[in-house]
Amino acid sequence: MSAQPDRDAALEQYRRRAGVYDLELALFEPIRRDAIALLAPQRSETVIDFGCGTGLSLPLLRAGVGAAGHVVGIEQSPDMIERARRRAASRRWRNVELICAPAETARWHGKADAALFHFTHDLLQRPEAVAHALGMLRPGARVVATGLRWAPHWALAVNAGVYLAARRSITTLAGLDRPWRELERQLGPMHSTSRLMAAVYIAQGQRH
Ligand SMILES: C[S@@+](CC[C@H](N)C(=O)[O-])C[C@H]1O[C@@H](n2cnc3c(N)ncnc32)[C@H](O)[C@@H]1O
Repeated sequence: MSAQPDRDAALEQYRRRAGVYDLELALFEPIRRDAIALLAPQRSETVIDFGCGTGLSLPLLRAGVGAAGHVVGIEQSPDMIERARRRAASRRWRNVELICAPAETARWHGKADAALFHFTHDLLQRPEAVAHALGMLRPGARVVATGLRWAPHWALAVNAGVYLAARRSITTLAGLDRPWRELERQLGPMHSTSRLMAAVYIAQGQRH
């Protein structure tokens, strides 16, 4: 673990983890469903899935926007996005665009209606990544972020679980007390709730 997100460490982490990632996330799938329900993708909208990983959110996002909408996945790990590409190809989606790049430098020239940051702690701790990501959204766009967080300090067993999960999935513990802080600083006030005994947050906001 380092003081700031470490890209090389993250790429290595997800190179090793890509093959088992979908299985490991099974426990968290209800949170994904809740997050996407809050994001509420609508027919014909454009939605960006930042740090889309293996594309586990793509089916629900694609179902929301329909065949006339557009889903964009931005992901820095070639090993993870390769699986997302296979998922999209197997379903013959023509309106799912997958971009292999860090969120802070990804090139996409549109303005999306909504953005999902599902378990993307490292990304959210990079102010330049948040700024670049928010620049891809139209005014009024909806934003939902989720991920691990420290539970209250007295919840030692929960926080032991957060620590073990964090070691496997992120490269910095910085910001785990309020992981959406930078997003909120750039976006404006967000509404947040907790899940899984406060080990996970869902934060919701809107670009003004
Ligand atoms: C825990 S996984 C979550 C994947 C996916 N969002 C999901 O819901 O299953 C975190 C993902 O964020 C990606 N990531 C981390 N930092 C990133 C950045 N700066 N830009 C783009 N992707 C990033 C990692 O490569 C990894 O695939």
